[in-house]
Amino acid sequence: KALAGYVGVDVAHIVAGAGSDELIDLILRLFLEPGDGVINCVPTFGMYPFCTEICSGKVIDVPRDKSYAIDIAGIKEAVGEKNEKTKIIFIASPNNPTGNTTPQRDILELVNLGKVVVIDEAYYEFSGTTIAPLVSKYENLIVLRSFSKWAGLAGLRIGYGIFPTLIAEQLLKIKQPYNINLAAQVALQESLNDIEYLQDTVQKIISERERLFQRLGELKFLKPFPSQANFILCAVVKGNARLIYEGLQKKGIFLRYFDTPLLRNSLRISMGKPEHTDALIEALKEMC
Ligand SMILES: Cc1ncc(COP(=O)(O)O)c(C=O)c1O
Repeated sequence: KALAGYVGVDVAHIVAGAGSDELIDLILRLFLEPGDGVINCVPTFGMYPFCTEICSGKVIDVPRDKSYAIDIAGIKEAVGEKNEKTKIIFIASPNNPTGNTTPQRDILELVNLGKVVVIDEAYYEFSGTTIAPLVSKYENLIVLRSFSKWAGLAGLRIGYGIFPTLIAEQLLKIKQPYNINLAAQVALQESLNDIEYLQDTVQKIISERERLFQRLGELKFLKPFPSQANFILCAVVKGNARLIYEGLQKKGIFLRYFDTPLLRNSLRISMGKPEHTDALIEALKEMC
């Protein structure tokens, strides 16, 4: 009920999970039969392919474009090829690790394909954009949310989804009854009771994100990508991201480092306090 009040929907649309990770797993268990396809808009969050494979599904990677926008035509093509065998399209918005959101018109274009579309809004509070109000209008649109990021409850494992009521009813049948522990329930309730404090912190993180984005852009060897989340992805355009990552580690600054075919020579920086931004920028200037 507290979650329904926060989102502004009827409680029949809400199912809570031990983190949104559990809901990703439950959705896949509900819909997939062995060999069914799941569209994965790479680079993105690793739990979609992880859980798909555990459910004997087939991960269909559809790469994002150079600015990390999803490839609508590519998704349509992928869905079209194996139409009845493709069951779910996952889109993180804001996306992890790229930080960009997917516009509502693109989401609705995918919803109109008739497959289950899961919009993972784990970072919603940092972007302020959501498709949640449209869930009650479609039978195949799901929104996932989390208390791990904006409310800092990652270790307590509490997330939720906003589902069409028919899907919510089926999920409740396969969900373990005691999936959410008491400490997580109390923390969730208290977070919502103290929402102004949390929203103030979110605002501070957003302004710090904008300041960090600007400061990173001033460093000629980095190309930061605009972000709507609580982190910024940076391509290292001159130099070696691994060496930067290791050098920063020695100074006690920890980032994510990527060097995969779709994320070459890149770093992801999570937001901290203003003094953390300053320390990072100073360290980067000293190193390069
Ligand atoms: C896009 C995305 N979705 C879901 C999650 C998992 O969140 P939770 O802690 O609620 O399971 C993460 C965590 O990194 C994420 O980046």
